[in-house]
Amino acid sequence: MDNDISRRTFAKVAGVAALSTAMPTVAAAEAAEPAIVAPGRLFPRGFLWGSATAAYQVEGAATEDGRGPSIWDTFSHTPGKTVNGATGDIADDHYHRYKEDVQLMKALGVKAYRFSIAWPRVFPQGSGAPNPKGLDFYNRLVDELLANGIKPFATLYHWDLPQALQDNGGGWESRNTSEAFARYAGYVAQHLSDRVRNFFTINEFGAFVELGYNNSIHAPGLRLPPARFNQTRHHAVLGHGLAVQAIRANAKPGTRVGLAENMTICCPVIENEAHTKAAERATREMNAPYMTVIQEGKYTDAYLAGAGADAPRFTAADLKSISSPLDFVGINIYTPTWVRADDSPLGFTAVKNPNSYPHMLSSWLTIGPEALYWGPRNVAKIWKVKEIYITENGCSSSDVPAADGIVYDTDRVVYLRNYLSHLQRATADGIPVKGYFLWSLMDNFEWADGYTNRFGLHYVDYETQKRTPKLSASFYREVITRNSVA
Ligand code: NOJ
Repeated sequence: MDNDISRRTFAKVAGVAALSTAMPTVAAAEAAEPAIVAPGRLFPRGFLWGSATAAYQVEGAATEDGRGPSIWDTFSHTPGKTVNGATGDIADDHYHRYKEDVQLMKALGVKAYRFSIAWPRVFPQGSGAPNPKGLDFYNRLVDELLANGIKPFATLYHWDLPQALQDNGGGWESRNTSEAFARYAGYVAQHLSDRVRNFFTINEFGAFVELGYNNSIHAPGLRLPPARFNQTRHHAVLGHGLAVQAIRANAKPGTRVGLAENMTICCPVIENEAHTKAAERATREMNAPYMTVIQEGKYTDAYLAGAGADAPRFTAADLKSISSPLDFVGINIYTPTWVRADDSPLGFTAVKNPNSYPHMLSSWLTIGPEALYWGPRNVAKIWKVKEIYITENGCSSSDVPAADGIVYDTDRVVYLRNYLSHLQRATADGIPVKGYFLWSLMDNFEWADGYTNRFGLHYVDYETQKRTPKLSASFYREVITRNSVA
């Protein structure tokens, strides 16, 4: 019997007990026993363990060294837009403390760091003259990462659109923004690709376009009528495609490019053939305006029919740019969408028990560890993608330091243990997931939720800027060291 534990060969993992002194949490318990790992539960050799942040959420230094204003500066400074009027003016002060933060990563043992570049630092007006001092921050950060053996993975757009582009033409409502984004992407690739070998174009179309231009709960706080909104969606994916081309044209040979999308992760309600096929159909349709058009170079018939006269206007050349070949696909995965097969025209329905469904501190963050299996599985199956990264996964919890100063975030550990077990299941099935970036390295500015919903492995005291590893940091360090969850 394969699952007879007594017949497995266990691997003793040297060094797990010797956790860094920078990780004082539960140190005595960690030092006690050498760990054993069942080979069937290992992640593939060379699996890339990382952590992630984004510029506006951690950097602070909002007016320093020539940075121009972004739509998030404007939005967060508008009364009533964020919880307690929080802004990213200071955030985690990472702009000044990045060296300390790189040491946090080193103590965790991560081999890669996903961060974002603030467009308004590099082009304060979005376009026109670059600001070399802005780019210099990323030169310093990248050099520090490499000196500490950590691979930089840079995201070019994590929502901090230069305000000037919003003021002139309505931001992503205008095709000019797609083109300006490509120029900025090409410029950054030209200057950083000697050391940054992996770029993500855009982070989460499914959040910044939907929440910013349709639901008005994110910057720039708009509620566009359907035709203008669909056109905005189109300009966002067009910006991605043009940026891929600009990176390829300007970067050092061998530079790799992908995206980081919060796709709707369709999981079958029961893992049988009918529901599994329904989840595949749902994956294409529920991601039609973003991932599907990027992968297939066309909008689905159902999307266009549903939009009717409000469908986006586009050319064949647009679609070709949007579907420019990628080196990898990044997926941000937090919650599942449960799908069942039915005899409706599209052959699926999304379902969920409304009132008792479990979630983390953020009410949108409903729990479903299976998402880390079905997300990459569907991307690999439907679009034959050969290289996948989980570019974000993690959760918010109501972290409160105990008397000894440590946050015992057992709920986050439970969340991570279960999600990561399903990710390991994916790799064991041969699904080509190459790495995982945990969101987030440290607590930070959680957009409209301000500083109330903490996602970090490190607790940040915003009065003193002191960072303290939580229990989950110790957990993650062990996962990395063992290359295994259990
Ligand atoms: C997705 C976003 O990319 C990130 O900025 C955000 O903080 C996390 N999800 C958690 O909401």
